Amino acid sequence: MIIAIDGPSGAGKSTLGKMLARALGLLYIDTGAMYRAAALAVVEAGVDTNDAAAVAACAQAAQIELAGEPDRLRVLLDGHDVTEAIRTEQITRLSSVISTIPAVRRDLVRCQREMGARGGVVLDGRDIGTVVFPQADVKFFLTAVPEARAQRRYEEDKRKEPGLSFDETLADINTRDRRDSTRADSPLAIAADAVVIDTTELSVDEVFARMMEVIRERVDKSKVQSPMSNVPSQP
Ligand code: DC
Repeated sequence: MIIAIDGPSGAGKSTLGKMLARALGLLYIDTGAMYRAAALAVVEAGVDTNDAAAVAACAQAAQIELAGEPDRLRVLLDGHDVTEAIRTEQITRLSSVISTIPAVRRDLVRCQREMGARGGVVLDGRDIGTVVFPQADVKFFLTAVPEARAQRRYEEDKRKEPGLSFDETLADINTRDRRDSTRADSPLAIAADAVVIDTTELSVDEVFARMMEVIRERVDKSKVQSPMSNVPSQP
């Protein structure tokens, strides 16, 4: 069972991805964290970020691992825990920049496919349903208006960065959306068979309920017994 969740930043992908993984007993793979870890490797190595070949070589040499349960997912770079270090503003911006380099993507996509091949997984990212696992059993595309996504990001980030303004967060979201959606290689796009959910006006629990409903429908249709036997049945 492979569940793909794509969408722009702040749409709720990781919150919902973790909830689904926990409810269904699946592995959770945060593919954005992998691009972030690659960006951190580039910064730590002092590589010129305009030199695509050098960035790709650095990203390829980096040992990136995801470990632990969905709620306590740790990101390791060359054996070091970088879970917090990859959430800075600098790494957020740079991860979007280096993810436009095809050689960086090739390596991380291969890694993601290997992880997915191990068993039941929920993956969140930008190109999961279109490129990484076009044969995924269920595909979601979560979205929300930029202002709502920026508000969520702002609430999360202002604790870490008290000087941050909402307008800066919104501008950053818009820049990232544009870069992630217009790059030539694997841009953010809605897969033809994805279920699109606009989370602007919905609570997390409402989105979760809708996603579980879709998964149950698909499982009933394909009559898959395992590993989805732990999907709670309809009340
Ligand atoms: O989901 P996130 O914000 O942690 O992702 C960081 C960046 O990584 C995002 O701006 C674009 C890139 N990314 C990507 O290109 N493909 C993915 N599957 C996941 C993330």
